[in-house]
Amino acid sequence: MRRVVFNQKGGVGKSTITSNLAAIGAERGLRTLVVDLDAQGNSSRYLLGDAVEQGLAGAAEFFDTTLKFTLRNPATSEFIVESPWENLHVMPASPLLEELHSKLESRYKIYKLRDALNELGDTYDLVWIDTPPALNFYTRSALIAAQACLIPFDCDDFSRRALYGLLDSVKEIQADHNRDLAVEGIVVNQFQPRAALPKRTVQELVDEGLPVLQPYLSASVKIKESHELSRPMIHLDPRHKLTQEFVALFDALQGN
Ligand SMILES: Nc1ncnc2c1ncn2[C@@H]1O[C@H](COP(=O)(O)OP(=O)(O)OP(=O)(O)O)[C@@H](O)[C@H]1O
Ligand SMILES: [Mg+2]
Repeated sequence: MRRVVFNQKGGVGKSTITSNLAAIGAERGLRTLVVDLDAQGNSSRYLLGDAVEQGLAGAAEFFDTTLKFTLRNPATSEFIVESPWENLHVMPASPLLEELHSKLESRYKIYKLRDALNELGDTYDLVWIDTPPALNFYTRSALIAAQACLIPFDCDDFSRRALYGLLDSVKEIQADHNRDLAVEGIVVNQFQPRAALPKRTVQELVDEGLPVLQPYLSASVKIKESHELSRPMIHLDPRHKLTQEFVALFDALQGN
């Protein structure tokens, strides 16, 4: 199963959610790959720590080979590295992604990620794709390569209004390029059950019939520590409330 975590809005929790759900699956023994398509490389750093500074070949280097056409392209596995966590591999991001973006777009490389992930066959049980905060070449590539789309939502009313446009964009990609793509659901992040406004905003989504997933993820300062130490929550504090919410969300997605 390949999932893309997407929202054009920045800072809604895409990288946090991708990395933590991926780490939970890997911890359960599922062979897991995280593909980081955001030049900021937040998921790469979160899962690999300082190793990201070693100039690892990753998503940018993969896309670069698609621009330098040769009959024998390197295998996708050459752009994947192991993380410190068992069963968890990463195709890391780098700032080069930014530089390559316009070339990739103008040369119609939009199906290359899907081809590359197909080439991996059944090496991985779960693939998670983290995306930049934009509807650009990389997010489109990811939406074309994936079977399911998760949309993190930060409980803000402007974000709520933007969701309809976002869902239309996903539907358009689905209709034009990827019939297999399903919107799996909206992941409510940094939910504050005692604050009236966010509660009402989320309820409006539910009332409008949008696929809002359970449970909602709490806001917790522990996430900051988790990022700083490059330790996903399941490894940092398995009993923490937010960890348990991530686990419950993972189980809901996997149908457990
Ligand atoms: N549940 C949470 N509780 C507290 N802080 C959170 C939570 N989820 C995310 N954050 C914080 O919010 C910030 C943005 O999160 P994150 O980087 O995951 O978002 P993003 O959507 O990937 O951002 P970008 O669009 O820049 O890639 C980070 O500082 C992160 O630590
Ligand atoms: Mg991010």
